[in-house]
Amino acid sequence: MYLLVYVSTASDDLKVEDVGHILDVSQSNNYERFITGFLAHNGRHFMQAIEGEEGEVRELYDQIRRDHRHSGLVQIVGENITQRAFPNWSMNYYRVDGPAATTSMVVRRDDPVDSLLPKEMPRELMHLFTRFLSIR
Ligand SMILES: Cc1cc2nc3c(=O)[nH]c(=O)nc-3n(C[C@H](O)[C@H](O)[C@H](O)COP(=O)(O)O)c2cc1C
Repeated sequence: MYLLVYVSTASDDLKVEDVGHILDVSQSNNYERFITGFLAHNGRHFMQAIEGEEGEVRELYDQIRRDHRHSGLVQIVGENITQRAFPNWSMNYYRVDGPAATTSMVVRRDDPVDSLLPKEMPRELMHLFTRFLSIR
């Protein structure tokens, strides 16, 4: 299996409803492809982890790169893994600012992200996301 993490810049006109829509599509597509992961948003930038069979992950990343709802994608992790960090999430979402979004998977924004992230996930990955979400 393969883990890929990237960061990107959300387009200026991206609305909360757009993210809700991205999540709905992602959760059903990823479920079909046995892809799991986590999407973090700090109001301006995204950081997303996607994990699964390598070919599926690369194909999905190619698709996500072409999406005009964000730009300037930079891949920061690409590595083989033996265990998923987010085994139960077809795509969970956490946003540190703005109103609570509409999907039931979204945690309340006053819940700290480290209480949400799976306890057994690799420390470096936990670090990456908590650091990212502390940047406003
Ligand atoms: C920040 C961001 C993250 C995304 N993550 C995923 C994802 O995890 N899975 C997915 O299928 N699509 C994701 N998308 C949407 C894809 O770019 C694309 O719109 C979608 O996969 C198309 O699905 P469809 O061919 O079923 O319409 C994401 C888009 C953005 C902007």
